[in-house]
Formats: sequence, structure tokens, C-alpha cells
Amino acid sequence: MPDKINRRILFSRLMVGEPRVEDFKLIEEPRPEPGEGELLLRNLYISIDPGSRARLSGRASYVPAKPLGEVMDAQSVSEVVLSRHPDFRVGELVAGYHGWQDYAISDGRRLSWIDSRQRPISTAIGVFGLPGLSAYIGIRKLLKVTAGETVLISSAAGAVGSIAGQIAKIDGAQVVGIAGGEKKCDFCQEVYGFDQMIDYKSEGSISEALKRACLKGAHVYFDNVGGELLNAAIANMRRFGRILICGQVAEYNLEPGQGIGLRDVSAFISNRLDMRGFVVLDHSEFFEEARRTMADWIKEKKLMVREHIVEGLENAPRAFCGLFRGENIGRSLVHLADPKE
Ligand SMILES: NC(=O)c1ccc[n+]([C@@H]2O[C@H](COP(=O)([O-])OP(=O)(O)OC[C@H]3O[C@@H](n4cnc5c(N)ncnc54)[C@H](OP(=O)(O)O)[C@@H]3O)[C@@H](O)[C@H]2O)c1
Repeated sequence: MPDKINRRILFSRLMVGEPRVEDFKLIEEPRPEPGEGELLLRNLYISIDPGSRARLSGRASYVPAKPLGEVMDAQSVSEVVLSRHPDFRVGELVAGYHGWQDYAISDGRRLSWIDSRQRPISTAIGVFGLPGLSAYIGIRKLLKVTAGETVLISSAAGAVGSIAGQIAKIDGAQVVGIAGGEKKCDFCQEVYGFDQMIDYKSEGSISEALKRACLKGAHVYFDNVGGELLNAAIANMRRFGRILICGQVAEYNLEPGQGIGLRDVSAFISNRLDMRGFVVLDHSEFFEEARRTMADWIKEKKLMVREHIVEGLENAPRAFCGLFRGENIGRSLVHLADPKE
């Protein structure tokens, strides 16, 4: 039988600047019981997502601001432990959105069974979840990277960036990654095979560093960061360059009015640049293709997957704060439990 207690981590204080562990509260409640047509899920892994920060200051992003006192949102890998739903059996493993807690009730909607090709099971919310899908769809479907192009990627050691860079390499591009610190930069070159890396934390001028790395300018910029790195990239694009805004991690902790903004909009005219933003959930028609293709690449050892796994639900807030200090290499996850069998 599952435990009687459900530990849950609530969003308990509006964030100002960098997130702190005190912005969250761990509570214990009686474990919920599934009603007719419902199932009880036990979370095995939960995700730690920088994009969640955008909702935690009391302001809306592309989703409404998160109310105080709610359990923190996350993607989850879970085991069905009780089922009163005709389509789900005890012991099945599913991926969904069940937050920072031990147990959750589901009515079966927005759940997907974990494919036997998706091993380890944590990859269902990593390379086969929103980060990997963002990378695949960004590089292949939106930016349409082609062989010989120079592709610049920020947060290149992260969950999205590391997969995006490797797909660009598979498609024959030259990849220039940007990441914080020598260790991450070395890792990206040695393990992911990126052609050049720029350690933005040790460069006096990022724009000068980009100029040296992309002598004729970049054809493509896959941006996970925004802020000064975006301005430096815009200054170093080729004519007809394409920029994809995937994330803004350098801006999430800023208050209204502190945003860095675009410095040189005229570069869009002089270099005929295109820039677009995207939300991966708008492109679900590509999910099946992306998962199948990436599973094949992993099997063929063309795509390397790295996860940053922290142990224990109680450490989720620390892991979240650590994202903004660059503590993760690859997908940040928390491990809560193992499946029964
Ligand atoms: N548009 C979509 O549909 C979609 C979907 C998924 C994710 N995203 C976005 O994609 C981005 C990457 O997400 P992820 O899950 O892959 O996270 P991640 O890159 O694995 O982790 C965050 C990384 O951001 C870097 N960082 C933190 N603060 C920074 C700063 N001030 N300047 C530069 N870099 C900073 C850190 O790496 P360093 O050590 O290199 O600084 C940190 O490791 C996020 O912005 C996320 O919101 C968008």
C-alpha cells in the first residue's frame, strides 16, 4: 500500500530577484484517494524548470501568474499505485504534469504512457519531454538548420541547449556554444562535440568573443537566455540570419522596468534578420516524429543525454535556485522514488 502521507512543496512567497528556498514551503497532508474514473499516481521524478520562474512574481507570462499556496508545477514521471480508471492499471508508468509532491490524483487527461524506448524513465520528461522537443522542433522545424551553417546556442550545456546543439551537429552545422564556466565549456566540446565554446563568465566583451568565434557571423542563434547575450548575438549575425527566442533565463529574475531590452534594432534592417519566439506546446504535431528520431539517435550514440539528478523532494527548492547559478549540466530533475518492480 502507498504511504498515508503526501508531502507537497507549495509556492509560498512572491519572488523578488533570485529565487530563494524560503519562497517555498514543505507541508504534509493525508494522501488523497482516487474517486470513480480517477487514479492515484506516485511521483518518481519531477522536473526543475527555469521557465517556472516567470510566473512566480505575481505577473503573468504566457500563462497566468501562479497563485500563492499552490503546489509547484512540474512535469512528472509517475507510477500508477491505485486505479479506478478503466484505461490505467496499477504498476504502469506515465508522464504528466503532477507537481512537486509525492502523490497526485489524475483523471487520465494529459497523461502519456512511458514508451519502452524511453529509458531511463527520467528521459520521458527530459530529452523526450519539453526540453528535448523544444530543441528538436526549434532546430529542425523552425530554424531549419542546414549543413555548413554556423549555429550559435546559449545555455549550451543545459537541457534544451545541449540537445539543440547536438541536433545542429547531426544536421551538419558548425556549433558555437555559450555557457558559464570552463568545466561546462570543456564538457560541451568533449561530450557533445561542439566546435567552439565561449565561457561568458570569463569574457570581458561577449560581442568581441562572438566576433572571434564566428568570423563571418552566425547564420542562426538559438537563444535560451535573452539579455546581454542576445544583444551580443544580434551584433554578430550574418545577413538573413535567423534568431529563435526559446527562453529568457537571464531576464526571469528582473523586476518590471529592469529588462535589458534590444539595443540595436537597426541591425534587423541592415542585416535583414528574422527573430521569432515560440512555445513548444504549439507544435504537438511534431512530437511523435521528434521522439522517434531522437530515440534512434540515442541508440546509435549520435545523441548524448546528460541529467542533473538531485535526490529527495525536500531538495527541489534548492535545485530550482541552483538553476540560476548554473549548477546543472543537462536536464535538472529530482528523484523521489523508484517503481515497485
Ligand atoms: N519556449 C519553450 O517552449 C520552452 C520550453 C522549454 C524550455 N524553455 C526555456 O529554455 C531555456 C532553457 O531551459 P532548460 O530547461 O534547458 O534550462 P537549462 O539551460 O538546463 O538551465 C538553466 C541554465 O541557464 C543558465 N543561466 C542561468 N542564469 C543565467 C544568466 N543570467 N545568463 C546566462 N545564462 C544563465 C545556467 O547555465 P550557465 O552555467 O551556462 O550560466 C543554467 O544552468 C529556459 O529559458 C526555459 O525557460 C522554453
